[in-house]
Amino acid sequence: MTKQRLADFEATWVPRINTYLDENLREGSDRETLTAAMRYSVLAGGKRLRPLLTLAVLTTFEQPITAAHLRASVAVELMHTYSLIHDDLPAMDNDALRRGEPTSHVKFGEDIAVLAGDALQPLSFQWIADSGLAPDVIAQQTLALAQATGPRGMVAGQVADVQNTGHQLDLPALQQLHREKTGALIHYAVQAGILQSPVPAPVASELLKFADAFGLAFQIYDDILDVTSTPAQLGKATHKDAGEQKNTYPELLGLAGANDALNTAVKTAQTALQKAADLSQRDFDLLASFLTYFTN
Ligand code: IPE
Ligand code: IPE
Ligand code: MG
Ligand code: MG
Ligand code: MG
Repeated sequence: MTKQRLADFEATWVPRINTYLDENLREGSDRETLTAAMRYSVLAGGKRLRPLLTLAVLTTFEQPITAAHLRASVAVELMHTYSLIHDDLPAMDNDALRRGEPTSHVKFGEDIAVLAGDALQPLSFQWIADSGLAPDVIAQQTLALAQATGPRGMVAGQVADVQNTGHQLDLPALQQLHREKTGALIHYAVQAGILQSPVPAPVASELLKFADAFGLAFQIYDDILDVTSTPAQLGKATHKDAGEQKNTYPELLGLAGANDALNTAVKTAQTALQKAADLSQRDFDLLASFLTYFTN
């Protein structure tokens, strides 16, 4: 699993994802302010990790990436951006910096920030629905996105996050919170790639185990970076979770314990990919290269 493999994949796809988002949000709404607010947060940057994961599954299974695949794969970034806009609101994490820019509510006011998030969420479903993929794929992908982001997924995790701020959760509860608020959408991103590709069921099952371990690792790493990194590096506030008494891995386990948990999750993800490789005689190096994200 080389870092270069991920860097090459990003160099190929991030510009295409960004161009796609730019062109397709140009006339996002007839309301000028709403269009501006949606574009502002979506185009501010971001690693584009979730669409990259979907596209990596397609690439692994040698699925030609048509305009329809691209639209249905990029859609997740709209959902993700909505979640960030709302996560940053004063009523939630009250953050002023995101993707290196002032947050949506700082720039446009809370009312428009809420509404920009509200607009991006259904637009994400719309891009899947009108992508031109086969109707059964559209139906399954739509269902998967609703499940990942709804009351048993991301929103449930965000509720657990805000309701338990100031109250320390135990490890199983914290793990569940992280799986819901962040893991569920990453699970969906891999699942979307599986739904769009000819993946045998036993291989799909291992890839979803990879996704779940990756998603957990991703939020543990986000918690760690809050402690160890700077706003200049992350484009968002740091050293904030502890002061706010957020439930995080470093708060519960200490930094060393959080790093151990991260390594365990990464190993679980690697094992799942190895099993997928054994089952399919395919090369999963591209997906494995995503795990190098945690070695920055
Ligand atoms: C930030 O997600 C929110 C979490 C789930 C930790 P990312 O770290 O993927 O943010 P961007 O998209 O790169 O800005
Ligand atoms: C964000 O978790 C999860 C979602 C946006 C759903 P955090 O609150 O830790 O994310 P950051 O640190 O603000 O990016
Ligand atoms: Mg939050
Ligand atoms: Mg936050
Ligand atoms: Mg965080």
